[in-house]
Amino acid sequence: MPDPADAGRAAPMLFSPFALRGLSLTNRIVVSPMCQYSAIDGCATDWHTIHLGQLALGGAGLLFIEATAVEPIGRITAGCLGLWDDATEASLTRVVRALRLASDMPLGIQLGHAGRKGSSGRPWEGGQLVPPEAGGWQPVAPSAVPHLEHEAAPRALSLADLGALTQRFVDAVRRAARIGLQAIEIHAAHGYLLHQFLSPIANRRTDAYGGDLENRMRFPLEVFEAMRAAWPAERPMGVRVSCTDWVDGGWDLEQTLTFAHALKARGCDWIDASSGGVSPRQSIPVGPGYQVPFASRIRAETGLPVIAVGLITEAAQAEAVLAAGQADLVALARGMLYDPRWAWHAAAALGAHVCAPRQYWRAAPREQRELFGPTPFGQR
Ligand SMILES: Cc1cc2nc3c(=O)[nH]c(=O)nc-3n(C[C@H](O)[C@H](O)[C@H](O)COP(=O)(O)O)c2cc1C
Repeated sequence: MPDPADAGRAAPMLFSPFALRGLSLTNRIVVSPMCQYSAIDGCATDWHTIHLGQLALGGAGLLFIEATAVEPIGRITAGCLGLWDDATEASLTRVVRALRLASDMPLGIQLGHAGRKGSSGRPWEGGQLVPPEAGGWQPVAPSAVPHLEHEAAPRALSLADLGALTQRFVDAVRRAARIGLQAIEIHAAHGYLLHQFLSPIANRRTDAYGGDLENRMRFPLEVFEAMRAAWPAERPMGVRVSCTDWVDGGWDLEQTLTFAHALKARGCDWIDASSGGVSPRQSIPVGPGYQVPFASRIRAETGLPVIAVGLITEAAQAEAVLAAGQADLVALARGMLYDPRWAWHAAAALGAHVCAPRQYWRAAPREQRELFGPTPFGQR
């Protein structure tokens, strides 16, 4: 609990509530979506229950399920999660039911399509393109331009394909709604399909979906609009973007700002500010909080809620990002795998309260008996 010497000190922002449309978060900590490469034919497995289960006990304000493909060839790897038919929907329903026995942490899902980065090997198998004859598939993309020069080219999507694909996104939204998921993040970052449309590096189309910025934004915006219309009005929907390709002549922050304004006009509830992934030529100056300036600029210029992500690892660092008005929420990925109780430890460090399952209430440190709030625990 707070040191009496700190009396009068403002409550930490990291543990203040935040609302995304009709969804109330008890704090500003988000568990970032993390691929597990552990699905079977797109279906969630017991691994997902265990993995998401441990994270759901950790006190964060919002937990995102990993990048989930809207069609089989939209998976990054053969082990990626999908939400495209009754079987994939039933498998996720089972996981969510189990999570709900243990936690009422808000649950979101990231929906996306890998585009030309589909048919990759799992990271622990090397992560390279798997050709159809080795069990992979031919990926699709805005243009027949491979991710790496030596790779076979993806198939360029036709106009008819685009309409069908938008419907795939919409169908997945309906399934997510039925499962009871509370937030959707559209994956338009990291060099996957929607980012491929945005970036001039991957998008070489000469029709209405390529060329100038307005044309490159067209498909991602059409997808957003269609998904938003299919999602219950009170549930929030946001977008993860790569704010820059980190390549001269690629997608950059100025274009991201235009895209964010266009998303805002269509009812987007947040921007999750990431970067990179579309080109092997990227040069990323990785360091603590290295993507925070992007979040800050988007927040300042659009007024949209933003999630800052990327090497945010310390409670004081996260608190400083929020206190400086650089972001509304902070997301952690690797830090959460390393310490699934990161939010507990952050609450202890900042002198705040955090949710814990009652079965674990006795874990509160001696000096911070009220870490988990009022937690009566009788015994005889
Ligand atoms: C194991 C793992 C899986 C990831 N999978 C996804 C994903 O499904 N979708 C996504 O947008 N980002 C994914 N990322 C990126 C993270 O969400 C996050 O943006 C990135 O790791 C930077 O945050 P960090 O420094 O807190 O790890 C993944 C990262 C890791 C470590």
